[in-house]
Amino acid sequence: MKTVLRVKGLRKEFGGLIAVEDVSFEIGPGEFVGLIGPNGCGKSTTFNCISGLLDQTAGTVEVFEQDVSTKRPDEIQKLGLTRTFQHTRLWRRMTVIENLMVPSRNQFGSGLTDSLQALLRPHRSSAEEERLDKAYSVLDQLEVPHMAHNLTSELSGGQSKLVDIGRSMMGDPELLLLDEPVAGVAGPLAMKIFNNLRNIVDETGISVLIIEHNMDFILRQGVDRIIVMNEGKILMQGTPDEVRGNREVIEAYLGATGEPQEEET
Ligand SMILES: Nc1ncnc2c1ncn2[C@@H]1O[C@H](COP(=O)(O)OP(=O)(O)OP(=O)(O)O)[C@@H](O)[C@H]1O
Ligand SMILES: [Mg+2]
Repeated sequence: MKTVLRVKGLRKEFGGLIAVEDVSFEIGPGEFVGLIGPNGCGKSTTFNCISGLLDQTAGTVEVFEQDVSTKRPDEIQKLGLTRTFQHTRLWRRMTVIENLMVPSRNQFGSGLTDSLQALLRPHRSSAEEERLDKAYSVLDQLEVPHMAHNLTSELSGGQSKLVDIGRSMMGDPELLLLDEPVAGVAGPLAMKIFNNLRNIVDETGISVLIIEHNMDFILRQGVDRIIVMNEGKILMQGTPDEVRGNREVIEAYLGATGEPQEEET
């Protein structure tokens, strides 16, 4: 079976700072994988290199076995990779369904006004109807169809994160990279988001790589595998059970005492 994502010897320097150092991992089809590590350990930078937003200093990235190391973000997106950003960016004066109809950042162009006008016209083309149907079905998948006509400015932080995930699903990605989609989201909604993602992975066979900050939380959220980063490097990768039992991880996260350390954020 084809590897969905292969990162080999990835390195990213910012001036004298080595943000990512010799990071290698693979994601297979239908895998739900967590990427975890303390503040500033290089998680988002890894995403930025994979999605083409940053040029890596060294190493290669393959998406569906194609070397994307020198490709632009829009070219990588066309291969089936979609990502979200740590800070949610929604059109605040539009409704949820309108936000889902807007093409993603990489596809801006006439598409933006076309798809919004489609919402206002009584007679839509079949392609536009399809996109609207798709938007409603994404809201169904995320179990928030009732939010369709709410203004995004009226949503809670957690609900906005859900809409952002919904937007990322509009293009039927085969590989979804989510950067802290539940940061600052209340516990029950955060668990629901993970649960829905697990179901989407199982039902559609897409692969999801999700950055999460909280080790204790991700260990209980049904991911297949966890990649643990620390100071730019991979500390270990394994199943939640393997990560839970790893001494180095426990020490990096909990300190030698095994007692939880205070959150920095
Ligand atoms: N564009 C940039 N220019 C310079 N330094 C950067 C840039 N982006 C990230 N860094 C630095 O690289 C290191 C890794 O940052 P990164 O954002 O990847 O960490 P992170 O693991 O996502 O952290 P967090 O959990 O806080 O989101 C940090 O020291 C950060 O300050
Ligand atoms: Mg980050």
